[in-house]
Formats: sequence, structure tokens, C-alpha cells
Amino acid sequence: MEISVYECLNAFRKPLLDSIIGSLNIHHGSIGLDAGCGTGFITRMLAEQTGAEGSVTGLDLSRDFINYSRENNQGNNITFVEGDVNDLHFEDNSFDWIWSMDTVWPGPKKYGCPAENPYSIFKEFNRILKSGGRVYISYWSSQKLLPGYPLLEARLNTTSSASAPFIEGMDPGNHFMNGKRWLQASGFNDVSANTFTGDINAPLSENDHKALNILIQMLWGSAESELSSGDIEDFKNLYNPESEDHFLKNQYYYGFYTYTLIMGYK
Ligand SMILES: C[S@@+](CC[C@H](N)C(=O)[O-])C[C@H]1O[C@@H](n2cnc3c(N)ncnc32)[C@H](O)[C@@H]1O
Repeated sequence: MEISVYECLNAFRKPLLDSIIGSLNIHHGSIGLDAGCGTGFITRMLAEQTGAEGSVTGLDLSRDFINYSRENNQGNNITFVEGDVNDLHFEDNSFDWIWSMDTVWPGPKKYGCPAENPYSIFKEFNRILKSGGRVYISYWSSQKLLPGYPLLEARLNTTSSASAPFIEGMDPGNHFMNGKRWLQASGFNDVSANTFTGDINAPLSENDHKALNILIQMLWGSAESELSSGDIEDFKNLYNPESEDHFLKNQYYYGFYTYTLIMGYK
């Protein structure tokens, strides 16, 4: 995905990110890691929580993202490093907390997943956390974006593109809804999960329009081969900006999406 797409989605998700990050109770002066930091947008939000006495390191595999993050999210308490979550070059007991959003998706490497199963990564997270430190992992977990078309939306959600990178035949234990098990088996205690909702209400900003079009494309853009011809026609009609039925022309548009946060203590 291009950087501009990430930034569009970041602005769209900002209210939800505020509520998730606000719930974490990140201590002033704490030292954190954002593993898979993307464009650094969330790293900066996290650094606002630690204040100048604390610090956050954003780590990402992509040199382009790290360069962009360094240029666009500067701060005395923020550092960006290029690195792989499978090979973390940090000392034992380095961090008070680790945050990782939409990054440790277990799945085939050919889909860009960092690992087939997540355990070795979370064991490493455990190693580099201080005793009593917290891990927060979060995943896009669901959406309702097509008001008035529940059956079509349900069928779109049964296609493999909607649940990617989890694919048919994968070990059910490697689905993120089993994330509490991942953390428990990687040495964390008091593991818990909860889900946050992002509401989408008309009138929509230009950025919301753009983000929703991107999301529809990401979720269902390659679903055609698994849909009936009638569903393809209905979906194209809703998705075509020239159509009177375009889903965002509804002046009462309401949709929502969710992120699931899973956390544990070392
Ligand atoms: C979907 S993006 C999420 C970015 C950011 N956490 C967010 O929520 O906006 C996934 C990020 O993980 C990074 N990534 C993928 N595999 C990685 C790995 N093995 N080690 C570190 N980062 C990785 C990608 O470069 C990308 O920036």
C-alpha cells in the first residue's frame, strides 16, 4: 500500500485510535515500542502519552516507512528503526510496554505475513519487556459498511478476501480471535481482550469518502470470483460513484468497524 493510503486510513481511524490508546493507561515517563509502526502516525500518538520523560521506538521492516516516519513524526522522545519483528535487536527487559497494530497477522509469507504462527514473535516481545510490562496487540476485526444490504454484505464477508490473510485450511489456533492463547503460551499473564467500535456517520468528510472506498476495495475488491453474477452486479452498482445507489450517497449513511485489542502482562 502507498504511504498516502496509510495516511488517509490513519486520519479516518483517528477517533477510534484515540479511544483505544486512551484506554491503555500508558504511564508518563514509560518506555515503549511500536512494532510494525507503518508511517509513524500511531507512534506519535503513543509518544504523546509517555510525555517528554518517556520515549517510544517505532520499528518497521520497510525502509520507506521508516524514512517517511523520521521526516514526518519527529519528536525528542521518538526514534524510528528499521527492523524485523522476527529478529529484534533489543536487550532483555528494555520496554515498559509494546504496542503492535495490524502487524503480527499469522499467515503465509507470500501474503506479506511476518510469520506462519505468532509464538516466536510474542516470546521475543516477552523477552524484551520489563517484568510487569504490558503487551498490546490489535487487529481490524469486523465492519458493517453497507446499510440496507445486509445479505449482500454477509455474502461479501464469506469470501476469502474478507478474512485475508487467514485462509481456508489454516490452523484455527492461528486466527487473531485466539490471540489470548498466543499471549498466554508466550509467557504473558492476565491476558484479556476487548473490542472498540469506530462509528461512521454522514455527512462524511472527503477523507472519509476516500477511506471508505479504499476499505471496500481492500476487503471485497477481489471477491468477484466467489460471488454470484447477481451479487457482483449489485455490488458494482453500490460501489460505482456514478450510480444513484452509490453507498455513500445515502444522506443518512451509518456504518461501523471494530478493532479488537488483546493484552497481557509479563
Ligand atoms: C498494516 S500495516 C500497520 C501499520 C501500523 N501499525 C498501523 O496500524 O497503521 C503493517 C506494518 O507492518 C510492517 N511489517 C510487516 N512485516 C514486518 C516484520 N516482519 N517486521 C516489522 N514490520 C513488519 C509493514 O511494513 C507495515 O508497516
